[in-house]
Amino acid sequence: MNEKNSLGLDKCFLDLDNPFELFEKWFEEAKSKEINDPNALALGTANKKGIPSVRMVLLKDFDKNGFVFYTNLNSQKGNEIKENPNATMCFHWKSLLRQIRINGRLKQVDDKIADNYYKTRAYESRIGAWASKQSSILKSREELLNNLENFKKKYNDIKNVPRPDHWSGWNLKPSSIEFWLDGDNRIHERLKYTLNEKNIWIKTLLSP
Ligand SMILES: Cc1cc2nc3c(=O)[nH]c(=O)nc-3n(C[C@H](O)[C@H](O)[C@H](O)COP(=O)(O)O)c2cc1C
Repeated sequence: MNEKNSLGLDKCFLDLDNPFELFEKWFEEAKSKEINDPNALALGTANKKGIPSVRMVLLKDFDKNGFVFYTNLNSQKGNEIKENPNATMCFHWKSLLRQIRINGRLKQVDDKIADNYYKTRAYESRIGAWASKQSSILKSREELLNNLENFKKKYNDIKNVPRPDHWSGWNLKPSSIEFWLDGDNRIHERLKYTLNEKNIWIKTLLSP
């Protein structure tokens, strides 16, 4: 069931000066309401010519320093980010009728942070990070399955699979965060936080 927030963004949330607090509130609600992947977001990147591309990734961490996802550094997105660190994220929680858009710059997370997260992943996922040359052309499905088998043989101690150098996390340090709430007859509500040059979040209401 879709749920409206009957109180509205301005009444509920305008007293919050910190967008991370509001993100956390909405994210917690999404975790309890969405049937699948409440941490899924559309990630937009662009290459150095400015040609954009978008795909879904999963949010694995966030705090006041940014929003973190993990991926293959040599994938299409990985190569684009290396050329152009400007990126954008968009969450859409269908059952809550809410959207959050975040713009900012990406920086690779420290190796230690990536190592710690990698260790929490299932054995098959850790092997997959070795076996899949993400976004490169496969001759056949067998090629990938053989790679998986070979890496399982190479790293047969499930407690000891090293993190590949080509697999890590990116942290999006936000410069703006916009919260969108569905309204009747498309008179939606939008609250945007923008970081000013003094590092203070400035709030504005936007027209739908
Ligand atoms: C719900 C969902 C979550 C996903 N999460 C990730 C992720 O966290 N990291 C990742 O590399 N790919 C993830 N993918 C796959 C990507 O959307 C994409 O296919 C892949 O990363 C290759 O993208 P690229 O060629 O633009 O690099 C996810 C796909 C879906 C549908």
